[in-house]
Amino acid sequence: MITCSAPAKIYLFGEHAVVYGEPAIACAAELRTYVTVEPASSTTVVSGGVPTRIETTPYITEALKKIRRIHPIPDVSIQITSDIPTGAGVGSSAALTVALLQALSIEFGVDIDVLQIASMAYDVELSVQGAASQTDTFISTMGGMALMPDRMFLPHLECSIVIGDTNMRGKTSTMVSKVAELKNAYPEVAEHIIKSIGILAQTGVPLLESKDYLGVGRLMNINHGLLESLGVGTFPLSQLVYRARDAGAFGAKITGAGGGGCMVALTDKPEDVIRSIECCYGKAMVVKPAREGVREE
Ligand code: PMV
Repeated sequence: MITCSAPAKIYLFGEHAVVYGEPAIACAAELRTYVTVEPASSTTVVSGGVPTRIETTPYITEALKKIRRIHPIPDVSIQITSDIPTGAGVGSSAALTVALLQALSIEFGVDIDVLQIASMAYDVELSVQGAASQTDTFISTMGGMALMPDRMFLPHLECSIVIGDTNMRGKTSTMVSKVAELKNAYPEVAEHIIKSIGILAQTGVPLLESKDYLGVGRLMNINHGLLESLGVGTFPLSQLVYRARDAGAFGAKITGAGGGGCMVALTDKPEDVIRSIECCYGKAMVVKPAREGVREE
């Protein structure tokens, strides 16, 4: 029996634009999904203590399919527990897929390294979602913070990350299609917005290197505005973003696909930001950056 865990991720810059090859910066966050696997007489999934039909778990079905292409995996019992809010823009599906593939590879002696785990997990996301970037699966596998798609690691954040959850959910594939539709309808306008998001990520690199979080926050605020203009914002998301800024956050924006889900703020006053978000609207938590990616427990 093997248990592996993998962390969540937040985007400081660049979601959606990264789908079109623009740079993005994402950071692993210390919320984890734990997956335990062991050989069994039939393949079963128990998630959060609840038996779950395998047909309703596309990431698990697809991960099993992909890993079985390179190694025979027998029937297996899969048990999942998770601290990560699901479908909320913080990489729950990537963490599940990465932790599952790593647990299967260790339990059944599959000859595969972590970069291959990241790449197989990306293929799983692509098959399930129809469109995906390598960001979530790479960051969840490797931990730390990196400029993507270059995979250039950046120094660890030395301020607090606050995640605010609207408790509403947008589907990644729907939001990616929504941006694609806008890009088809107004290519020149949308392409400039997407390019500008990429420029924000590039501009953020030296600021993150010099730990200028005021500057980073300013750019995050601009990135939020650009995500709004791409049509992936919602009123509750912006409410949380403005609450965080009013409480003194360096900056705050949507993280992930939008349409619901979470926002992220960088701050040196996490308690104030949490209080401000929670007093009226969503649920908020402070999370540490995760230095470690996927690991055996
Ligand atoms: O909401 P999430 O965690 O699935 O993030 C989606 C980020 C996108 O850029 C919209 C898509 C992707 O795969 O990069």
